[in-house]
Parts: sequence; C-alpha cells; structure tokens
Amino acid sequence: MSLEKRIDAILKEFNLDIEKVSSNDISKADLSLKYFSRKGQISKLYDSLSTASPKEKPIFGKKINDLKRDCEKKINELSDIQLEKNKFKDFSYPGDFHLTGSVHPITQVIDEIKEIFSKIGFSVAYGREIESQFYNFEALNMPSYHPARDMQDTFFIDKDFLLRTHTSGTQIHFMEQNEPPIRIIAPGRVFRNEDISVRSHCQFHQIEGLYIDKKVSFSDLKGTLDYFAKQLFGNNVKTRFRPSYFPFTEPSAEMDVYWGLQSESDYRITKGTGWLEILGCGMVHNKVLKAVDYDMKFWKGFAFGIGIERLAMLLYGIDDIRSFYNGDVQFLSQF
Ligand code: PHE
Repeated sequence: MSLEKRIDAILKEFNLDIEKVSSNDISKADLSLKYFSRKGQISKLYDSLSTASPKEKPIFGKKINDLKRDCEKKINELSDIQLEKNKFKDFSYPGDFHLTGSVHPITQVIDEIKEIFSKIGFSVAYGREIESQFYNFEALNMPSYHPARDMQDTFFIDKDFLLRTHTSGTQIHFMEQNEPPIRIIAPGRVFRNEDISVRSHCQFHQIEGLYIDKKVSFSDLKGTLDYFAKQLFGNNVKTRFRPSYFPFTEPSAEMDVYWGLQSESDYRITKGTGWLEILGCGMVHNKVLKAVDYDMKFWKGFAFGIGIERLAMLLYGIDDIRSFYNGDVQFLSQF
C-alpha cells in the first residue's frame, strides 16, 4: 500500500475508533496508545518515511504531521462530561459519592404530626417567637400576679416582650383574626430559662392544637388525642388522661402513653411507672374566650400542647436532648 493510501486508511480507522470512545467501547487511554505510542499507527508512519523518495519526503512528512495534529486535537476534544456520562454504561463502575443532607428529626416529627391532624381537618398556623406579655400570659388567664407564671421560667427581652415560653399565644392571635369554627395546629420553637441537661434544654418545640366549635365536649378532646396517639405509635398504644392544671384550660389534663418497663432505660425515662407524659390539654377556659371576644354561649373548644423533643426521643431512641441542637453531622445524617 502506498504511503498516501496508508495515511488515508489510518485517518478512517481513527475516526471509527473515536466513535467507539464516545460509546464507551474503547477507552481514551487505549486509543492514544493505539495511535501515538512508540509502536502506534502514526509513529509507524514516520518510520515508513525513510522509504519515500527525497521529493516525496517533505510532502508526506507534512501529511503525517497534519494527521497527527488532527488526531490529537480530536482526542483532546473528547469532552470530560461526555466520558463521565459514559461511565454509567458500565454498571460495575463504582458510584460517585455525594454527601446528601437529611431532614432534621424534629422537623420529621413535626411533619408527621401535621399530616396526622390534616387528615381530620386541622390546618397549620404559625405564631411568633418574640411575644408580648399579653399573648404569652395575660390573654391566657395569667395576669402578672398569677403564680402559674412561675411554672415557666421566662427569658425577658424588656418589660413588655419576651421569648415565648409556649405556643399557646398562637391560640390568641388566631382567634383574634378568625371567626369560629376553628381547627388549627401551630408548631414552633419555645424558650425557657432552664439548665441544659440530658433531659431538658432552654429551647425546644411544641405543637399547639386549638378546636373551637359549637357543642365541643371533653370526649371530643379525648377522641381526637387518642386518634393522634394511635396514628403516631400504632393502634396498640395505651393512653391515659390525668387531671392537671393550666390557667387557660378548665378542666385540664395531661395525656400519658404506656411505654412499658422492659429495659433499664424504660425504668429511667418513665420514672419506674411505665407511663410517659406527652402533652397537656383541656377545654378552653371561658376567660380566654372572653379575651378574644367570643360569645361563650355559642362557642366551646379544646386546646392541647404537644412536646416534640420528647416524642422524637421516643420514636428514634435518642437519649440525650442536646443531640438535637449541637449540629453533629454524624448524628443528624442517621435520619
Ligand atoms: N402550654 C402548655 C405548656 O406549655 C401546654 C398546653 C397547651 C396545655 C394547650 C393545655 C392546652 O405546658
């Protein structure tokens, strides 16, 4: 074969081969080797130059140089993106490592509770973390002299404003702006001036619930919260209501779920009783209805406040409340 024909044949073959790199049939490295290594096709062409006549030498020399430059250019132009894409055709190729984020466990529990209540017609409302004394205390039947203010150690900002100690103030905001009937839950962060330990923190989360309608009874409250516990913990969960006291509900109660006493840690977290308190609740106090100008002859209601951290600790088996807030990626990436 004449030198000229060989040059043409090699160019043709190269063009076919470069297609094969694109379709991942041969690798870019193998292609370079085939044409440019010391014994590669193009290198061999240079060796054949010695057989050309002195007249042909510069002509073929130039042709071979052009061929080499063209081929090199084509190899370099094989885009990395294209090659990267082709990797996926080889299913034995190790996958790329991506660090993905995860939804914070507190947010996950809040989302689940929102979903549970949305199925029975509750919508979501939001309050504010900086609250006035009126919404956090007074409108909830806790005037300044009320001893119940000591139940919650408050971070004051100045004499009027504070970091809310519970989500109950959202009840007042919502009732002021809306007419009954009302069915809302209100998730959010709350703050109390408490020592930070394995079981308590100066910030945590609650979900407030408020239901106002005609002829609402305590058994509606019990039925609603029982439904909630069953949805969250499964149909076999055992619940109980204990009488309690909150200034803004009357009568008031706390709901416990039966956690059991199988392990040593069950004894510790249930203080040896097997029962765990998960929320406070009660029928909305007349003084609260009065504070928002609702006609007490018509409207009745119930309210509840669920502690989120406690539930998240139970559901995920977390034994230190501080792990929610210290931003440890290794801890958070488990969820
Ligand atoms: N706000 C109460 C608390 O923080 C909980 C609660 C809400 C109780 C609504 C009754 C009704 O402890």
